[in-house]
Amino acid sequence: MKLKSYEIDSYRSCLRTKSPLQDTLTGLIGINGSGKSNILNSLVLLKKMVRSRPLTRDEDSPSRNKCRITAEIEYQKKTLFMRGIIEYETDEHNHDEVYSSQLKFNFREFLNYPKWINIPLQLFSLTNPFSTSINKPLMDSRWMDIIQYYHINQEDFNFIRTRRIGQLLNAVFNFFDGINYYSASQFSDPSRCPVSMELEENRPSRRVRVGGVGHERFIFDLYQSWKAKNIQFKRYINTVGNEGIGLVDNVQFTEIDIPSSSYEVTVGGKIQKIERNRLLVVPNFSINNIELSPNQLSEGTFKTLALVYYILNDDSKLLLIEEPEVCVHHGLLSSIISLIKTQSKQKQIVMSTHSDFVLDHLEPENLLQVKWIPNKGTIATPLNRAISKNDYKELKIYLKESGNLGEYWKESGFEND
Ligand SMILES: Nc1ncnc2c1ncn2[C@@H]1O[C@H](COP(=O)(O)OP(=O)(O)O)[C@@H](O)[C@H]1O
Ligand SMILES: [Mg+2]
Repeated sequence: MKLKSYEIDSYRSCLRTKSPLQDTLTGLIGINGSGKSNILNSLVLLKKMVRSRPLTRDEDSPSRNKCRITAEIEYQKKTLFMRGIIEYETDEHNHDEVYSSQLKFNFREFLNYPKWINIPLQLFSLTNPFSTSINKPLMDSRWMDIIQYYHINQEDFNFIRTRRIGQLLNAVFNFFDGINYYSASQFSDPSRCPVSMELEENRPSRRVRVGGVGHERFIFDLYQSWKAKNIQFKRYINTVGNEGIGLVDNVQFTEIDIPSSSYEVTVGGKIQKIERNRLLVVPNFSINNIELSPNQLSEGTFKTLALVYYILNDDSKLLLIEEPEVCVHHGLLSSIISLIKTQSKQKQIVMSTHSDFVLDHLEPENLLQVKWIPNKGTIATPLNRAISKNDYKELKIYLKESGNLGEYWKESGFEND
């Protein structure tokens, strides 16, 4: 499944922003404040939307923002469209929380049904596609309530309760759920990273924030793949270790059992001892034969370790990466960009960048030029449309003969005037 194109309406600076995306790698370039991060964040809303409540008709909270996202999705070589109205609030860290959404789908290429149909979120869940429960009479009565509430007509109702629709929606929602976003700023200041982690029943005893990835989450994810001793961990060490970019010699974890028990007293005074399975996990990074805690790593090393981990191991369907050049020095950056390029053959990647050095590793086809225009907001244009036909032709010749994309960008700025 691929996100072929998107249209964002009324989200931050994206007043009406639309563009196609590459199946492999799309690079967003543009000056500060043009809206690159806003485009990436709007795509994260698709993931958050899957877990939100349905938008009810009579609900209209003035403090909440509403935006609309239309996604063109390719699946089994056919196209389907999803349009979501998303109601969200933004917190003081500029994170959006999605409250509710209303979804419409168009399956015209799949099922020869050209209408947009309203599909209430209650009708499916990730683990339990509604198509499997349509025969249950109990479900039927709930269905009736829902279709009446949302004014879904009989024809649409008969259509959406087919097994094929259930399968398609399930695939789309798994795809959205598999969207992940990484930004080096999530891993700023390694000194905030704890030197150890306490696990209870194999889960961190302190809640690790879901959604975003922070220091602790990275250490926990890394520990889990170390523990699994799987091929992914070997591949990671080969990439960041001396055989690869040489950031660290090795990553090890020490596990210490913490004996722990408590007592439960039942009615009648019966006392029962409950053993708790707790573990102290201590991460260790060896660099030049010195053992270091994560909080002793340099910020650049920490960020690069985390970024490479997620580029390699993340099983996203769509990976969004914010400025991979942040904090990574040029020597390493080319390895990271080739890693991103290789991974993008398996999963779709959209990344923003400011770096002409990153552009040197990309092709003009991969680029979207992002601009902010008064009254129009953020505009994203594929490079072959952002500059004149002649300039694009000249650019291709220049790249073939001698130059590179980053240099061209620095000189011309890809201006079409
Ligand atoms: N929560 C928000 N609500 C409204 N506008 C925002 C919000 N966050 C950022 N912006 C605005 O959107 C514009 C583009 O921001 P951003 O996407 O971060 O730019 P870029 O990543 O290209 O540097 C900025 O001018 C900023 O003021
Ligand atoms: Mg940005």
